Amino acid sequence: MSEFKQLVFSGVQPTGNLHLGNYLGALQKFVALQDSYECIYCVVDMHSLTATLVHDDLMDQTRGIAAAYLASGLDPRKNIIFNQSRVPQHAELAWIFNCVARIGWMNRMTQFKDKAGKDRENASLGLLAYPSLMAADILLYRATHVPVGEDQKQHLELTRDIAQKFNNDFSERIAGLGYGVEMTVGEERVNGFFPLTEPLIEGPAPRVMSLRDGSKKMSKSDPSDLSRINLLDDADTIARKIKKAKTDPEPLPSDLEGLAARPEAENLVGIYAALAGVTREKVISEFGGRQFSDFKPALADLAVEKLAPISQKMKRIKADPGYIDGILREGGERASAKAEATMKQVHEIVGLLVN
Ligand code: AMP
Ligand code: TRP
Repeated sequence: MSEFKQLVFSGVQPTGNLHLGNYLGALQKFVALQDSYECIYCVVDMHSLTATLVHDDLMDQTRGIAAAYLASGLDPRKNIIFNQSRVPQHAELAWIFNCVARIGWMNRMTQFKDKAGKDRENASLGLLAYPSLMAADILLYRATHVPVGEDQKQHLELTRDIAQKFNNDFSERIAGLGYGVEMTVGEERVNGFFPLTEPLIEGPAPRVMSLRDGSKKMSKSDPSDLSRINLLDDADTIARKIKKAKTDPEPLPSDLEGLAARPEAENLVGIYAALAGVTREKVISEFGGRQFSDFKPALADLAVEKLAPISQKMKRIKADPGYIDGILREGGERASAKAEATMKQVHEIVGLLVN
C-alpha cells in the first residue's frame, strides 16, 4: 500500500532577531532531522509582509535567517534551503487554500487574535490568511512532518483541516485522475492528494518562556531585551541575562513534579536539558536540591558553549551575501521543480485550464 514519502518541511520568518526559543523550538530540531529525512527549510519572507508591510531591510533579514540555518549546521547540499518568494507556487496554492478554508477557521487562530490586537478590522487581510499560506508552504511539497515550536500547533491543525477538506471536496477528481495516495488516519485507510501532516513538537523545551516572566513565551517582540537570549548575543550578555533571569527563592526540586507550580524554574531546567541534549529528569538528578546561584552559572556556561560558535559562524556567513544568495537561488531551483509538479496536478484536480 502506498503512503506519502516522508518529507520534512519547516520555515522561519525573517522578522527581528532570532532567539533561544527559535533555536531550541526550531533550528536545533531542523539540524537533528537532516540525517534521517529528506528536508526542505524555507525562509518565509512573504509571511513577513502580513503584520508589517514596509520593511527597511527585508532582504538582509532573509539572508540573516539563511545564515542562521547554515551556522546551526544545516547542510545546503543535503537539504533544500531557499526563500519562499522565489517559488511563486506558494502564493498560488495559498489562493486555492483561501477558497478551501473558512473565514471562521482563520478567526479562531490565537496568533491572529494576538497579532491583530483590539483593532481586528484594521489588520491586513494577509494576517488573517497567514495560515493558508503556511499550509501552502507545507502541502506544496506534500510534506509529512513539520518541526516547530509549540506555538505553531494550532496552525498545523489547520493545515490538516485544509488538506482534509481539499481531499474530500475533490475526492472524485483525485480518484479519477489517479492522483490519490493511500494513507492511514487513525485506524482508517483513506485516499487523498495531500497528506495529513504531523507536527514535530516534542523535546524538553517546546515552548521556551521569557526570562523575565515564566508565563509569557520568549519572543522577538518583547520590549525587554533581558527577556530573551538572542542568537547574536556575546558571551557576557548571555551570562548577564541568565544571572538576571527571574527565579523563586527555593532551591531546585529533587523531582520533576516539584517544578509544577514553578514556571521560571521549569523553564531554566528545560533550556538546560535542550541545550545539553538530555532529558529534564537528568538535569534534576544532577542539580536537584542546589541553589540557583549554582545552577545559573552552569547554565550560562552551557549556553555560551553551544551558542557562541553559532553566532560567530553566523557573522562570518552574513559577511558574504553573495554566498548566501547562491545557496538560496540553487535551493529555489530545486524547490521549484517539486512545486511545479504539484501545481500541475492541482490545476488538473481543480479544473483550471492551462493548455
Ligand atoms: P517565528 O519566529 O515566529 O518565525 O518562529 C520560528 C520558529 O521558532 C517556529 O517553529 C516557532 O514555533 C519557534 N518558536 C518561536 N518562539 C518560540 C519559543 N519561545 N519557544 C519555542 N519555540 C519557539
Ligand atoms: N508560522 C511560522 C512561525 O511563525 C512560520 C512558518 C510559515 C512555517 N510557514 C511555515 C513553519 C511552514 C513551518 C512550516 O513560526
